[in-house]
Amino acid sequence: MAIRKVLRMGHPLLQEVSADVTQFSTPELDNLIQDLFDTMEAEDGAGIAAPQIGVLKRVVIFGVDNENPRYPNRGSVPTTVLINPVITPVGNDIENGWEGCLSVPGMRGLVPRINKIHYRGYDQNGNLIEREAESFHARVVQHECDHLDGILYPQRIEDMTQFGFLEELADRIKKSCE
Ligand code: NI
Repeated sequence: MAIRKVLRMGHPLLQEVSADVTQFSTPELDNLIQDLFDTMEAEDGAGIAAPQIGVLKRVVIFGVDNENPRYPNRGSVPTTVLINPVITPVGNDIENGWEGCLSVPGMRGLVPRINKIHYRGYDQNGNLIEREAESFHARVVQHECDHLDGILYPQRIEDMTQFGFLEELADRIKKSCE
């Protein structure tokens, strides 16, 4: 399929609320998901949401293996297609962690997220997906699902001294992952 252009922060489509998917197992949905995978892999992303390629549908994909150069030593996240997702917090632990986003290239920020969540949604064939996740896995899911509500991670940063260019922050990020 195709590597698509990733919209960057400031583009109005990234600020919109996306619509539920109502039909599964369609060529249109399969093509969208293939484009998302092609684009995520080309950019070494941990995940990507449909609005990032200009499609306002509640579709995200994510997945990280330990080889991903953008996220070393963060643990793996199962490769997943998640449609019409619903996140429910489990407990009330909040954890700070460094995030990047393909729509905010070259930058990183320290973002508080719920440490443990339950999430549910559907794959491209309408099969129910239901999981508990914590730590980096939970963070990735929350980050991607935020895109569906028009929220980018810089809007979640509480201390703006912890936001900047990856090259400048690299030592700080490395320390926090050790
Ligand atoms: Ni993102």
